[in-house]
Amino acid sequence: MFGRVKPLDAILATAEKKSLHRSLGAFQLTMLGIGAVIGTGIFVLTAEAAQKAGPGMMLSFVIAGFVCAVAALCYAEMAAMVPVSGSAYTYSYAVMGETVAWMVGWALILEYAIAAGAVSVGWSGYFIGWLNSSFNIDIPLELVRGPFDGGIINLPAMLIAACVTALLIKGTKESATVNAVLVGIKILALTFFVFLTIPVIKSGQFTPFAPLGFAGISGAAASIFFAYVGFDAVSTAAEETKNPQRNMPIGLIGSLAICTIFYMLVAAGVIGTVGAQPVYGPGGEVLSPGTPALAQACSAIHDNAVVCSKEALAWTLRQIDYPFVGWLVGAAAIIALPSVILMMMFGQTRIFFVMSRDGLLPEFFSKVHPRFHTPHVITLLTGVFVAIFAAFFPVGLLADVSNSGTLFAFAAVSIAVMVLRRTDPTRKRPFRTPAVMFTAPLAIVGCIYLFFSLSFHTIALFVGWAILGLIVYYAYSRSRSHVGRGLVEVHEVDTDVPPPAL
Ligand code: ALA
Repeated sequence: MFGRVKPLDAILATAEKKSLHRSLGAFQLTMLGIGAVIGTGIFVLTAEAAQKAGPGMMLSFVIAGFVCAVAALCYAEMAAMVPVSGSAYTYSYAVMGETVAWMVGWALILEYAIAAGAVSVGWSGYFIGWLNSSFNIDIPLELVRGPFDGGIINLPAMLIAACVTALLIKGTKESATVNAVLVGIKILALTFFVFLTIPVIKSGQFTPFAPLGFAGISGAAASIFFAYVGFDAVSTAAEETKNPQRNMPIGLIGSLAICTIFYMLVAAGVIGTVGAQPVYGPGGEVLSPGTPALAQACSAIHDNAVVCSKEALAWTLRQIDYPFVGWLVGAAAIIALPSVILMMMFGQTRIFFVMSRDGLLPEFFSKVHPRFHTPHVITLLTGVFVAIFAAFFPVGLLADVSNSGTLFAFAAVSIAVMVLRRTDPTRKRPFRTPAVMFTAPLAIVGCIYLFFSLSFHTIALFVGWAILGLIVYYAYSRSRSHVGRGLVEVHEVDTDVPPPAL
């Protein structure tokens, strides 16, 4: 029914060769999840969510968190059963065939590379604000914002993307200790924020709660979904997990639950102190985030609204007279966000690597550097694109486009779980999605709902990207596919690529 399928047993034979030591418990998994998840979403996109939903963005955080939770439970079953690199792409190859797998891999390019661009832009906002508040350095707007945002080029965002690329080429591995320290820094920053803002909340700031109606809340949920992306890092650690049936759901749901609680408290802190009503155009028209019209309306009010800020949390703290803590929170973002960029870019190079090894992308992509032992060609190529996205596009657009790819991949994985329960019911499943016939459809519906809550131009970009993907597949990849040519090889997976950046 699905055409070319990569036999699951061949994939699993690969996984068995890897046989990593099972050492991770529920706590480490939860840390892993929080480390990958907390980033630009909460630190920066809170402002975008406010522009779309007003105070109702609190509901948006809950909706997006819920969709992620059900999708995570499906992801975990596949991850535990097929614990090899390539995640959603590999699962789809085994279950739904090459064409679907290709489309998922193609969509994952949006998820990872564009997300890395979005986090770079988020980092830049904090870096600029922090330079300004520390040393009174004012870099001209033209050089720190892209053309849609009232500038020409976002140089700091480009620079950080280039630095992370260099680190990846050299072969950086983020150790569990570094991850734990960065998680600590992020949690501490958000905790400070919550403790200082919640006591001075004014309830009047919450009305009107949904100035742009439920459509606004849904639109903000689709954007803020970005704040939860990255939890898939937990499911990809399945084979290193002790007692995955117990620990995997605790790690996934635990990290999502902790993030959701923090996100809601932070959102409440922002709304209740500085207010989160959208900024309207001169004629009272609704303005979209990341557009020149909003940049103009913001400059008319001297950027005096949280929706105008590129460093929403630090800005809020400065407004309520905690400039030093604002400075600390800015420093925390500057230190911690690059690791999120690193994880995203690493994810991207790994997907490209696997697709190239399957013959669907040119083989020179998976070339490994003789000295650094890293896939330098593909890393450099990824880095160039990430830097370009970061230099010219606003954070909200990048996050939305990334979400469109992620939602597609999550929906595909949720379908794959149900299909495989039918076609291969007896296969050993170290973790089973609870109530799969309820959870998986819920995840699919949730992903579709969020996908169609994205802006029209985001959906159009996704469709354009998908069409381009199909053209590349039929013009290049299909005829070169190893599976298509009858070459199903079992690899010593990843002996030649660096270990996950976790
Ligand atoms: N969830 C990650 C972030 O918000 C991608 O930066």
